[in-house]
Formats: sequence, structure tokens, C-alpha cells
Amino acid sequence: MAERTSIDTILHESRIFPPPADFEQRIGGSYVTSLEAYRAMHRRSIEDPEGYWGEAARAFHWFRPWDRVLEWSLPDAKWFAGGRTNLCFNCVDRQVQGGHGEAPALIWEGEPASPSGYEIRRLTYAELMREVCRCANALKAMGVRRGDIVTIYMGMVPELAVAVLACARIGAPHSVIFGGFSAQAIADRVQDAQSRTIITCDGAWRRGHLVPLKANVDEGAAIAGGVTNVLVLRRCGNDVRMTPGRDRWWHEFVDDQPTDCPCEPMESEDMLFLLYTSGSTGKPKGIMHTTGGYMVYTAHTARTVFNLRPDRAQVFWCTADVGWVTGHSYIIYGVLPNRVPTLMYEGAPNFPEPDRFWDIVERHRVTQFYTAPTAIRAFMKWGDAWPRKHDLSSLIVLGSVGEPINPEAWMWYRETIGGGRCPIVDTWWQTETGGHMITPLPGATPTVPGSCTLPFFGVDAAIVDESGAELPHGKGGLLAIRRPWPGMLRGIHGDRERFIQTYFSRIPGMYFAGDGAHRDERGYFWILGRVDDVINVSGHRLGTMEVESALVSHPAVVEAAVVGMPHDIKGTGIAAFVTLEPHFAPSDDLRADLAKHVAKEIGAIAKPDVIRFTDALPKTRSGKIMRRLLRDVAAGADTGQDMTTLEDLSVLARLREGEE
Ligand code: PRX
Repeated sequence: MAERTSIDTILHESRIFPPPADFEQRIGGSYVTSLEAYRAMHRRSIEDPEGYWGEAARAFHWFRPWDRVLEWSLPDAKWFAGGRTNLCFNCVDRQVQGGHGEAPALIWEGEPASPSGYEIRRLTYAELMREVCRCANALKAMGVRRGDIVTIYMGMVPELAVAVLACARIGAPHSVIFGGFSAQAIADRVQDAQSRTIITCDGAWRRGHLVPLKANVDEGAAIAGGVTNVLVLRRCGNDVRMTPGRDRWWHEFVDDQPTDCPCEPMESEDMLFLLYTSGSTGKPKGIMHTTGGYMVYTAHTARTVFNLRPDRAQVFWCTADVGWVTGHSYIIYGVLPNRVPTLMYEGAPNFPEPDRFWDIVERHRVTQFYTAPTAIRAFMKWGDAWPRKHDLSSLIVLGSVGEPINPEAWMWYRETIGGGRCPIVDTWWQTETGGHMITPLPGATPTVPGSCTLPFFGVDAAIVDESGAELPHGKGGLLAIRRPWPGMLRGIHGDRERFIQTYFSRIPGMYFAGDGAHRDERGYFWILGRVDDVINVSGHRLGTMEVESALVSHPAVVEAAVVGMPHDIKGTGIAAFVTLEPHFAPSDDLRADLAKHVAKEIGAIAKPDVIRFTDALPKTRSGKIMRRLLRDVAAGADTGQDMTTLEDLSVLARLREGEE
């Protein structure tokens, strides 16, 4: 479905927007100023990646220089081997030592409105460093050592950034779990990482409601076992149960710690973090990122793609949650080394009213704004009157990430939010890639609504067939990356085989992204969507099998098949086809109960939009569920009605046997 729409789009899209004439002047100097300059630099970066990345890496602080920029033995990349650095040092200490201790590092706004306005906190680099040191010392005092994996399950509060940086400071890899995930999801991740320490909050604010984070941690820790330390930040003031000997309050324990803590010199290839993401099996995989390459890649892409300039009064706002890779890379790690303040907002875009984002842009004079198509589509639906109430003239660059952006949303973003004067950078990348891979550069690349345009420096992207042969422009195929890049994942935690199978087996000798794509006659890339059993719901990645496993763990369910379906706001919605145990009858109550069950097993983001009861699932003769057929049925579904008979499905199935 999505595929057909996109190909249609490509064939008919002829609008092209060169970088605005006044961009150079508004941004105060663009790093790359023309398409020709981009092309020449890209060519050089592909011919001599070690030269390119070696030079980029020199912009950072290293305790010890690297011996070699790259050692590559498929599928293992070592970047800056022999080098020692610390990413927290590069985010914070370096700015303080460089005389910028009083410059703004983090601007935070809380969600709740009070009569005196919103709660706003501004941390300078010096303040951030003190907070990070205290937290790092607290972790050490709790017994956390270099190499221990620390789980972080918090709302979007400044202490989340502090906790992440504190882990990086002492060389304890973090595993941040999105605050919308359930207790069971926490348990799975804690167990897989064998993590004994969790940092959390009493609760989080979301659209005026309280999310009971600590209660979820208690339940998750009970399922997982082995958790010996829980550090709890008081944010909402809700009642929580503190387990003596295991749980400590942040304000009692962290605030008392000394404000200096040396940065641990880390090897380039030491693990920086684990981040769990969905794949095509039921079990989320812990994507491993390491220190040196990830640091250079995220900060260098952030600088170039958003044209971050510390010499101008810029404020960078990425609206993602730190629980996803976008927040890791473009709220924290990619931004702070560039000495541009990063804005963090706690809550929902429509609280208390649908203009909250635009109100924030206006009040904080945001210059670069980075969000997801699903949010843009929601804003379109809420109407132009909300953004029109605000002065958005501070904006210079607009970014999009997480899923394909439909040209209608792209145009609305450009005109209504950007006033027609801000380039849009539609950035294609993944949890696994660490940072941007295919993206326009705002001062250089003419943009086309719906296309993520051209590969970043050092990225050798191609559209290939299953044998790895490059396809001519105009032909759809698999999106592959033919050479290593510094931000690439280094593995799946505890599962080497799955790492090789998932990314380096389908196309010989190349990284397989899991996306289908296409290049137009200009050579621009168009992402058609996932070609595996992963769906992208509101820019959040979910495995259909994960949702299926959650459904079949309900006593009423015998079998379930989950597919994506087109959804106006979410991009892709979730449709579930479910067969029931004989003594359960289809009903709306059961439907609601199943949705609740999925939310409990995974999180609210995984709740199916449509649940259809059927007496059997359509299968091929060899017993494979005919997913394409179900996708077509789901795409035509406008109601959650039960299918009266499965006859229709089985007739369809017989007709289409062999197509799957
Ligand atoms: O399908 C692509 C889609 O999101 C997937 C990666 O999801 P995740 O690892 O959660 O990371 C999301 C944020 C980087 C990709 O395989 N995707 C991401 N960005 C885009 C996109 N699809 C089209 N256009 C994009 N700009």
C-alpha cells in the first residue's frame, strides 16, 4: 500500500526547492554551500574515507590519538582503534575548559502549566558538569563499575540527560528504555543486558496525566530479578514504594556527592550504550554502539546537517524522546559537542493546547527544529490557526525523521511552519546507523517533497537486488550501504549470529538496512518503507511478531497475525487478525481487553488500531500466513467489524496462492 503510494508520488513529484537565497546570511555561514561542493566532497569522502573521518575526528578531544582510522573485516568495523576519549568530556568538560562554562548547554521546559507559567530550567555547561559529576559519583558509590550496564527509565527531565552523561563519564554503558514501555518490556531488557542498576523517576507527566514509572520499574525488576540498585528522581511527587537496601532518592543521595569526578579514558571501541529496537522476531535486539566512531559521527552529522554554529545565537530543538535513538544522537551526544544549546521538552505537543510546540519555538527563539512526520500530520489536522498565533521567524532549518514524509505534509511544514524560507532536511537513518545517512544539506541540496535526497559524506548508499548488483535509477530495490561508517552498530548484545544474519547476510558483502528504496533520475533516494516484518507506527519501530506474541499470550487467543495498515496520522497503523479459543466469542469487550493486554505486554504504542476476529488465518499450502493478503484486507478496512465469514478470505487466499 505504502509502496504504491510512494512510487506514484515519485513519478508525479516535480517540485524542487533550491536552498533559500538568504540562507547563508540567516545561518551566519553555511558549511556546504552548493550541490557541486557537496558532490566533490562526497566523492572525496568515498575515495578516502580514512582521510575524511580522520580529519573530522581531530575536532574532538582525545586522551590518546588513534593508531588507525579504520580496520574493517566484514562485519566488524573498528574506528579510531588505539584512540582513547570520553564522550562526556567532549560534551561538557571541553566547553568548560575552553572558557564557555557560562554558555547555555541545556534548556528544559516542563509540561504542566501553573499560574506562574511553565517550569523552565537552564543549565550552563559548568552547571551541567557539576550535576553530571554528582550523578557519576553516586553511581560509583552504588557500586557501578566501568563496563556495568545501567538501565535508565525516566521521563524527559534534565536529569535524564545528566544520567546518560554520567554513565558515559564513568564508562558504564547505558540502556535507556522509553518511558512508554511496560513493566514486561523493562524486564526483558534488564534481563538481556544483565543490568543490576536502574535509574528512574517517581512518575512522568504526559498530556496532563501521570505515568507511574517507579511502579513499572518495581514490577519489571520483580520479573527480571537481579536488580540491586534503583535510583529514583522525584519529579511528580506521587506516592512510591521504596525498597530498603535497594532504592535511593536522587535528592538525598546524588545531591550530596562531590562535584568533581574525572572522566574515564575509554577505548574507541568500548561500548557507549545499548539501545533496544524491534526486529523481525518477537524479541527486541540490543543494538550496541561504541565510543569513538559514534561520537565523531553524531556530532559531525549534527553540525553539518543542521548547520550548528556556536558563534551564532542558535537554539536546537529535537522533539524526540531520549528513549529513542533520535534523542540519544540529536538531543544529547551530537549537539553538546557543538556548543549549541539543546532544548528538551517534557511533554505532549498538544498540552495544554495544540500550539504548545509553536509557543516553545517562539519563547525560546528556536533556530533548528527537528520532528517526525506523524507530528506534522497531527498539526495539519489541528489546523493552521495554532501555528499562526505565534512568531516562528526564528526558525532557520526544519528537520524530519522516523518515517517517509508524504509530500502534502512536507509542503505544509515548509509553508506553514517554515514560512517558505527554511530548508527541510528529511533525514533517513536508523537506530543501527547511529546518525544521519541520507539527507539534504540545508545550504547545498535542492530539496524535493518526499525525498531524503543524497547520502551524507562517507556513506556509500546504493539500491541493489538480492545479489548485491546495483540497480539503475528508476528501479526499486533494497537499500544497502556498501562500506562501513563510524556511527554503525558494532553488534547485537549477546547475539552475534543474529547480527550477521540480520545485517550482513541478505546482500553479500553489504549492510542491509531493511528498507526498500528507489532513486529518481537526479539520483535522489526515496524510501519506500520496510521490507521485513517491522512496521513504523508514528515513527516508532515495532516488530509485527512482537505484537503477535503479546496477543497469543492472552488466554482467549489461538493465533494472531499483525500487519501494518495506512493511517492518516500515524503513517502506519496496526491491524491484528485474531482467531479465538472455541469458548470465547468475539465482542467489543474482548477487543478492548486484547488491546489492553498488548499495552501491558509491550506499551501503549503497540496497541492495535483494528482487531478483527476470524475463524482461521489465510495460509499458503506450506502453512505461511498470507501477510500481503491481510495487508490488502486491512488497507480496505474502515471499521473494526468482525468478518462475518472467513469464506471471503479463503477464496481470496486460493486465488492468490503462489503470490506470497
Ligand atoms: O524505515 C526507516 C524509517 O525508520 C526506520 C528506522 O527506525 P528506527 O531505528 O526506530 O530509527 C528511527 C529514527 C532514526 C528506517 O529503517 N525511517 C527513518 N527515517 C526515515 C525513515 N523512512 C523514511 N524517511 C526517513 N527520513
